[in-house]
Amino acid sequence: MAEIEKRPVKIVETVLRDAHQSLLATRMSTEQMLPIIEKMDKVGYHAVECWGGATFDASLRFLKEDPWERLRKLRDGFKNTKLQMLFRGQNILGYNHYADDVVEYFVQKSISNGIDIIRIFDCLNDIRNLETAVKATNKEKGHAQIALCYTLGDAYTLDYWKDIAKRIEDMGADSLCIKDMAGLLTPYKAAELVQALKEGTSLPIDLHTHYTSGVASMTYLKAVEAGCEIIDCAISPLALGTSQPATEVMVETFRGTPYDTGYDQTLLAEIADYFQPVRDEALKSGLLNPKVLGVNIKTLQYQVPGGMLSNLVSQLKEAGQEDKYRQVLEEIPRVRKDFGEPPLVTPSSQIVGTQAVLNVIMGERYKMVPKESKKIMLGEFGQTVKPFNPEVQKKIIGDETPITCRPADLLKPQLPQFEKECAQWKQQEEDVLSYALFPAVAKEFFQYREAQQTKVDGAAADKESKAYPV
Ligand code: CO
Repeated sequence: MAEIEKRPVKIVETVLRDAHQSLLATRMSTEQMLPIIEKMDKVGYHAVECWGGATFDASLRFLKEDPWERLRKLRDGFKNTKLQMLFRGQNILGYNHYADDVVEYFVQKSISNGIDIIRIFDCLNDIRNLETAVKATNKEKGHAQIALCYTLGDAYTLDYWKDIAKRIEDMGADSLCIKDMAGLLTPYKAAELVQALKEGTSLPIDLHTHYTSGVASMTYLKAVEAGCEIIDCAISPLALGTSQPATEVMVETFRGTPYDTGYDQTLLAEIADYFQPVRDEALKSGLLNPKVLGVNIKTLQYQVPGGMLSNLVSQLKEAGQEDKYRQVLEEIPRVRKDFGEPPLVTPSSQIVGTQAVLNVIMGERYKMVPKESKKIMLGEFGQTVKPFNPEVQKKIIGDETPITCRPADLLKPQLPQFEKECAQWKQQEEDVLSYALFPAVAKEFFQYREAQQTKVDGAAADKESKAYPV
């Protein structure tokens, strides 16, 4: 028998970004990360995902930490490992479309502060919304990975994926990621999908999924056999549930096969030992809810990401209408269809979810319409794969004319204005970007930072005056 060619599978470790975003409400602090990164740096991971997504907002808002400072510290510690971030296309890390000058500057600063790989996605898979970020990453000599949001529906045929993969390659991506945020991709479907993508593109393929529905590690196995090169995993204490499959399990699964990662299990065990108390404490404090650790088969049934389900429950609770849960779950696919069948991922998941809740509790569909629903219908988030339901669109936007161009084409440069607004707090060039994304939260953080510095300076001056009495 001919010897099979060795093709070690590459692993992206997500514990410093997606895993704690999915399980710990993104509350892991830089302090909690730093003591273990020297060991993590020795594993030989393809990359460590450690920045972007919700980490930026959570650092400023809840942890009162400068996210840029975190990135520089991680860069300092990871001497051999590539650092990866998640970037929401023209939304950057926020929820609105930003002008190109802000997107370009954010990419430039992310890379100059230490990021190697930028994973860029758009919630509608409208690739026009990825262009600016991809070009900027190319220009800064970073690795531009384009992520396609995986979803199900009439429009999402194998030909759709094959075609869009080709267009992504033409756009200048260095690799392609299938981002299965809800854990909808089942093992045999994954093999089919990877094969189709391989026909459309020669880019390396990275598969990102969540364990939510319980199939994820089998999905990785079939995807790797079909030619997928990179998989995203989390070290075991922060794996499974709404997080990723466990790193050690996948490493062991491929041992002695052509896909053997060659990673050292003893080293991985030491890393797991470090994170075990983080898990234990989070379970004790209630930060980690045991509910999210089990198999949630409803995600397969309703094709709704786990995070979105918990949002729905709290929205209904607020309205005192928890008994409408099932009706809302049934309304979601209908709203999604009316809205051109988009993938359900931030921010489209919130928009569709909120609209479904309103449709049910108002007792009339589209009687109450939040401004984000209107923005989608006006084309202001971009183009959906399928057309909108024309009747619903008419009811929502009336006589207004929807746009068909790339939404950011209508935005004038924004940096000068942001610079002006945050000038009084600015201590580093990157501050304007924190401010651009989260103005109120950043302002509060800047004020907190100043107060801390005054306190420290005051204490130092105090000490000095005691040591050297005048
Ligand atoms: Co994810």
